Amino acid sequence: MVNQEVSRRAKHLRDEIKFHEHRYYVLDAPLIPDAEYDKLYRELQTLEAQYPELLTPDSPTQRVGGKILDGFVSVRHAVPMLSIRTETDIRDEGAMAFDARVRRELGLAESDPQLDYLCELKFDGLAINLRYEQGILVQAATRGDGESGENVTQNVKHAIRQIPLSLTGDYPPVLEVRGEVYMRRDDFERYNEGQRLQGLPTLVNPRNAAAGSIRQLDPALAARRPLSFFAYGLGEVQGWAWRTTHREVLDQLAAWGFPVDENYRIARGAQALVEFHRDIAAKRDALAFDIDGVVYKVNSLALQEQLGFVTREPRWAVAHKFPAEEQLTVVRAIDIQVGRTGKLTPVAKLEPVFVGGTTVSNATLHNEDETRRKDVRIGDTVIVRRAGDVIPEVAGVLLERRPANAGEAFDLFRRLQGKCPVCGSTIVREEGEADWRCSGGLFCPAQRKQALLHFAGRRAMDIEGLGDKLVEQLVDVQGVHSPADLYVLGMSALVDLERMGEKSALNLLEAIEHSKHTTLARFVYALGIRNVGEATAKDLAKHFGALENLMRADEAALQLVPDVGPIVAQSIVMFFSEPHNIEVVKALREHGVQWAEHEMQAVRELPLAGKTFVLTGTLPSLSRDEAKSRLEALGAKVAGSVSKKTNFVVAGAEAGSKLDKAVELGVPVWSEAELNELFTQYKAI
Ligand code: IVH
Repeated sequence: MVNQEVSRRAKHLRDEIKFHEHRYYVLDAPLIPDAEYDKLYRELQTLEAQYPELLTPDSPTQRVGGKILDGFVSVRHAVPMLSIRTETDIRDEGAMAFDARVRRELGLAESDPQLDYLCELKFDGLAINLRYEQGILVQAATRGDGESGENVTQNVKHAIRQIPLSLTGDYPPVLEVRGEVYMRRDDFERYNEGQRLQGLPTLVNPRNAAAGSIRQLDPALAARRPLSFFAYGLGEVQGWAWRTTHREVLDQLAAWGFPVDENYRIARGAQALVEFHRDIAAKRDALAFDIDGVVYKVNSLALQEQLGFVTREPRWAVAHKFPAEEQLTVVRAIDIQVGRTGKLTPVAKLEPVFVGGTTVSNATLHNEDETRRKDVRIGDTVIVRRAGDVIPEVAGVLLERRPANAGEAFDLFRRLQGKCPVCGSTIVREEGEADWRCSGGLFCPAQRKQALLHFAGRRAMDIEGLGDKLVEQLVDVQGVHSPADLYVLGMSALVDLERMGEKSALNLLEAIEHSKHTTLARFVYALGIRNVGEATAKDLAKHFGALENLMRADEAALQLVPDVGPIVAQSIVMFFSEPHNIEVVKALREHGVQWAEHEMQAVRELPLAGKTFVLTGTLPSLSRDEAKSRLEALGAKVAGSVSKKTNFVVAGAEAGSKLDKAVELGVPVWSEAELNELFTQYKAI
C-alpha cells in the first residue's frame, strides 16, 4: 500500500523534474546541475518501481522505453489541420496583396485604420497536433491529409523533450496545441558528422530529418535524433473562451510550457509586413534552424473568425516565401581540390543554379566515403543545399533520374592514380581517417598557396590585399615557397605581375611591412599547424609565453594547455620536428617579424588542468564523490552537464541522458577502468 507521504513525494518529484526539464529544454536556462536532476530522476524511478500504482502517464520517466511498432495508426483530427495559402510573389508585393485582400474581405475602406498582423517564421519541418486532456498529453498526430494523420504519440514523448507531458498552470479540460517539429542546423550537422565517422548514412536535410524521425517505427532510434518543437496555434479547445488575439494565444502557449519562437512581431499595416519579411530575410542565415519564409496572421481572433476559410485555407493567414535553400541541378564533373593541409576534397562541378540567394556552381562532396555513400556520379541530377553560412553541398542524388551514360562510381585513388593532382606526390589515407591527403607538404604548390593565404589571412598576419589571384601568381611566377619569402619581395618582383600597378604594389609592400608587428597568438595561428585553430593558438600563446617554450614542449607538456588533447599535441610536435618548418620560423624572425613575449606561466599546472569531466550513472566501485575529488585533485573540473566543452564523460551503469548527449556530441566516453588507468598514471604526482 502506498502511504500518503510516498505519493506526495512522487508528485513533488514529478513536478520538480518537469520544472527543471522546462528550464533546460525549453528556456535553455538550467537552474541545477545535471547531477542534481539525475538524483531526482532516479529517486522517482525507484519509487515507481517500488510502487507501480504511483506511475502516471505524464511521469517524466515515461519518456524512455517504448516498443517497436508495426506501423502507425491513423487518427482523425477533431478540427482539420489546414494549410496556408502561399503568396506566390516572393517580393514585397506579396505582403501588399495579402493586406489588400484581407481589407477588402472585411469591407474596410481606405480611410479605415490599419490592421494588426502577427508575423511569425515559417518553420521548415513537420506539423503536428498535440492533444491534452485534463492537462495530460494523450495523443500526438501528424498532419497527414489534414483530415486525419498518424498517431505518433510514442515518438513525440520519447524524442522531443521540449514538448511537455503535462501542462503548467490553469488549463482547459481539452486542449490541442499545434506546431512544428524541426531539427536545428547544429544538431543536424552534428548528427551527420557522427554518422559519417561511423560510416552510416547521413540525413539529407533538417526537414527530412525531422519528418523521418517522427515516422520512425523504433522509438529508440527516434530518440537518438535531436528534435525540437515550436508551438504556433490551437486545434480543438473546450472551455477556454476568453482569448482575443493570436498574440495572447502565443503567450498562453509559452505559459503552459511550450517553446514559442521569439522572432514573432506585431505588424500594423502592409508596410510593416514588408519590413518583417525583409528583416527576417537578413537574419535567415543566422537563425539556428531552417525556415522557408514567414507567415502573416490577422491578430484579432474575432476578425479571423469573420474572415473564415476558402477550401482548405484560412483567409486570415498567408505564407510569404524566401528563395529556396535547396535546388536540383546536374553534376558536370567531379574535381578534386587540395587544401592547406593536403586534404583532398571531391567537389561537384555543377550546372549553375540559384540557391539560398546566390548562384552556385561548386558543391562539396566532403570526402570519398561520403561521395560513394551518396553514389554521386557525373551526369546525375542532385539536390544542392546551401543554408546559412555553410558551404554548398550535394545533399543527395535522384537515382531515378540517372542517365544511361552517367559516369562510373567514384574512386578517388583510381581517379588520381594514387598521385596528388597538383604536385604528383603520393596520396595517403591513414587508418581511421575519412580523408585522403597529398603527402607533398609545402612542396605541393596547392598546399603552398593555401598555406600562404592562411598566413596572410585577417585573423592571422593580416596582410591586406594578398588574395588568391595574387598568391597564385606569386607561387607560379615568382616561385614564392614559404611565408618567409613574402618579406623579401621587392617592387621589381611585384610590378611584373598581372593586374599589379605601381600603386597597388606599394600598398602590398606596406601591408607586408606592417604585418611584421604581430602577436604570438597570431603568429602561431598563421603557421597553419594542423588542428591548431585561432582559439588554440591563443591558449598556446598564453600558456607558453614565448615561442621557444612552445617549440620545445613535448606532447605531455602540450596537453597541460586547456582544450589541447593528444591529437592536437601530436600535430604541434610533428610540426616543429620538421626542419623545414623550423627554418621558416627562423627566417621570418630574421626578416623582422616580432611580438612581445612574456614569461611562461609560473604556476605549476596540474596534469588535468583545463580538462572538464562529467560523471554519470553508477560506477562499479568508485563513488561519485570519490571520483570527483580525485579528478579535482589532478586539476580537472567536474561539471554537472555535458556540453561541447566537456572533454570526457565517465559513464557507469544506468547512465541516462548525459551519456546520450556525449555520444551525440562525440565526447569520448570512459569506463571506470579507464578512469582508474588515468589515476594510476598520475599516482606519482
Ligand atoms: S499556421 C491555419 N504557422 O506551414 C494555419 N504554420 O501550409 C495553420 N508552418 O502545415 C498553420 N510555420 O507545417 C503556421 N508559424 C507557422 C508555421 C506554419 C510553418 C507550416 C505548417 C503547415 C504549413 C501550412
